[in-house]
Amino acid sequence: MFPLVKFSATIKKQLPQVVVLTDEKSLSAYVSDKETLRFLLSELKVNKGYAEAPWHKAGIMVVKASKNKEYTQLEELRRNAAKAGDKIMKAEYPSVQFVDCCGIEAIQEAAMEGLLLSLYRFGKYKSKSTHQIKEVFANLSAVKLNKIVEICRAVYLVRDLINEPVNVLNTAALTTAFASMGKEAGFTVKTLSKKEIEKLGMAGLLTVNKGSVDDPAFTIMEYKPAKCRNKKPIVLVGKGVVYDTGGINLKSYEGMMSMNCDMSGAAAVAGVMYALAKTKMPLHVISLTPITDNRPSGNSAVSGDIIKMMNGVTVEVMNTDAEGRLILADALVYADRYKPMLVIDIATLTGAASAAVGRNATVVMGTAPDTTFSLLTRCGEEVFERTVRFPLWDDYNKMIASKVADIKNVGDKHAGAITAGKFLEHFTTYPWIHLDIAGPAFLNEKDSYRGVGGTATGVRMIYRLLEELK
Ligand code: BES
Ligand code: ZN
Ligand code: ZN
Repeated sequence: MFPLVKFSATIKKQLPQVVVLTDEKSLSAYVSDKETLRFLLSELKVNKGYAEAPWHKAGIMVVKASKNKEYTQLEELRRNAAKAGDKIMKAEYPSVQFVDCCGIEAIQEAAMEGLLLSLYRFGKYKSKSTHQIKEVFANLSAVKLNKIVEICRAVYLVRDLINEPVNVLNTAALTTAFASMGKEAGFTVKTLSKKEIEKLGMAGLLTVNKGSVDDPAFTIMEYKPAKCRNKKPIVLVGKGVVYDTGGINLKSYEGMMSMNCDMSGAAAVAGVMYALAKTKMPLHVISLTPITDNRPSGNSAVSGDIIKMMNGVTVEVMNTDAEGRLILADALVYADRYKPMLVIDIATLTGAASAAVGRNATVVMGTAPDTTFSLLTRCGEEVFERTVRFPLWDDYNKMIASKVADIKNVGDKHAGAITAGKFLEHFTTYPWIHLDIAGPAFLNEKDSYRGVGGTATGVRMIYRLLEELK
């Protein structure tokens, strides 16, 4: 549950406090007890910018930021604010007061973001209820904090969707969740039925869906404010595999574990739409999410099947576990009808991307101008969802050449993230960015304000990029 964030100009002294400062001297205004003050100041030094004194009347946590707004320093600040968040959850404080004493916007935002994101818990299935923070009061103006609050709210929604198991969140449930996000935030959501998907000839989505007892879905979300800066829309595409067993090429137990996260891309684009609409960003953005599960059955696709995609390209399905690229291809072809200025796809696409860059970075590729990629690098750093660009060298097409069809859906064991990118490239006709979030999408171990489970990677990064493109 996302806490109520209330903007209060006066500081509620009876509440536990998270004090954010750049200058230690300002702390004396909030801590009257000399002993506690001395303790906090020395702790701040030892603990690199974080100190807590739970014995203070209501409990106090201090986060010190450097005035320097380098992206690494802003991240350190988020992480220190998350330490305060951990303390708040552990002490089970019902509400908390955020006290800013520095007045620097970038610092206020990063501290609030680290704090709010660290308070997230997926507790709905625990019989013994998990502590949830009810209210966060802040001595900041509503206007100032609106953006960060709405982005964090979007992150919470997306994490909830990722964390739901497939026995609760199947294809239909995900489309319903998107519809309610649209209704709440103010964007349209239209879901194409299996009949319509068949009529469009979405062979990738239909092939992956063959083994399922549930119909596939293709959801189109559109946010078009009255005043928008872009003539041609920006299109986002998200992989919506609600569960990836691998299909007939069944995954192992280890490989399948947490494959309910395989719709992280779809959830992320819905989260971006939500944050855009909530903050009234003046941009025309459309999101496309192909949705299905990937399971074995008597009717599943098998290795060697040949299918003809929407744009006429024939694909030999070598491995049914390389399903993401098949459903994304349909969405990428569909995107062409909008004559978009830019298409960004986001997907938990390859274990290879995760192996290459780990849990703390996203592999990116594409045909968008270099300037757009530079912008992406900077935006990724600013929100600390860092990106690493991989090439789309032409000769790598050889690795997905098929003996019987135009291309096959896997390469050999080498360069798996790139061959997946090369596959997708065959279905693009516009400036395009591909984000492979297989590494950071889901964590088995907590990392500061990214807890265990779905991280909602991509939401903050894409929002930030769109903000720059507006
Ligand atoms: N959903 C997986 C990729 C994945 C792996 C996501 C780990 C998150 C964490 C994807 O559909 C997949 O199975 N990819 C295969 C591709 C291979 C068969 C070419 C992989 O990476 O092993
Ligand atoms: Zn797979
Ligand atoms: Zn998958």
